[in-house]
Amino acid sequence: MIGNVVVLLGAPGAGKGTQAQILSERLGLAHVATGDLFRAAVRDGTPLGLTAKGYMDRGELVPDSVTIDMLFERLARPDAAKGILLDGFPRNTAQAEVLDKALAERGGKVDVAPYIEVPEADLVARLGGRWICRAQGHPYHEQTKKPLVPGVCDVDGSELYQRTDDQPATVQARLRQQLGALDQVVGHYRGHEVLATVDGSQPIDRVTDGLLAAIAAATGRQG
Ligand code: AP5
Ligand code: MG
Repeated sequence: MIGNVVVLLGAPGAGKGTQAQILSERLGLAHVATGDLFRAAVRDGTPLGLTAKGYMDRGELVPDSVTIDMLFERLARPDAAKGILLDGFPRNTAQAEVLDKALAERGGKVDVAPYIEVPEADLVARLGGRWICRAQGHPYHEQTKKPLVPGVCDVDGSELYQRTDDQPATVQARLRQQLGALDQVVGHYRGHEVLATVDGSQPIDRVTDGLLAAIAAATGRQG
């Protein structure tokens, strides 16, 4: 038997990473973000990183064959046994089905899929003004979430930088190419009756409250 599985859904820039960092700490779940795993592989110059970089720079999804193996390697690490909070996976129906099957084989399932819903115009503004830290990817924003010291992460003191895929043209490509697949994943979890939609246009702490309520209702875990 495995621990709780929470799948955090949302468009690029919806606030998945922001919320996942808060929720994983408050709920004692392992935060597993496929985007962070790919960025680490790119930074380390591994063969996986070299493959992924081209897709990421074009705003496309990395092929499932590569992504799924990387995810399951990460889930095999000991900390995943306490329960997992997935951020950025699954991104299409094929990935959702592979995840369902793998969990079922281990006696588990997706307990809840909270969907952070944000209007498209807000996503562009959020990604255009985002800065993240080099050490752990803590997200900041030029307007809505400024660091205490400009250019420095409040949490770990590392340098802040802008992701290359947050350039305006790549943001447009990400939204154009990925929102359709997100709709399918949302439909998948609605069909499994585990979808919980949260209004992501509220301030960060209100979104956290909505997500905690949805997760508590499904799993009994209190934040
Ligand atoms: P990934 O890293 O997963 O990027 P993404 O899904 O595009 O999402 P982001 O990380 O950009 O946004 P977020 O929702 O985490 O928002 P954040 O909290 O930072 O993937 C990157 C790439 O990797 C993909 O394009 C693809 O190529 C590849 N990839 C990854 N997973 C894959 C998979 N499974 N299959 C195939 N390919 C995959 O917040 C954004 C900004 O908004 C921040 O500045 C934040 O401060 C601000 N903000 C957050 N919440 C609020 C709020 N409530 N109000 C105001 N501002 C807010
Ligand atoms: Mg993110």
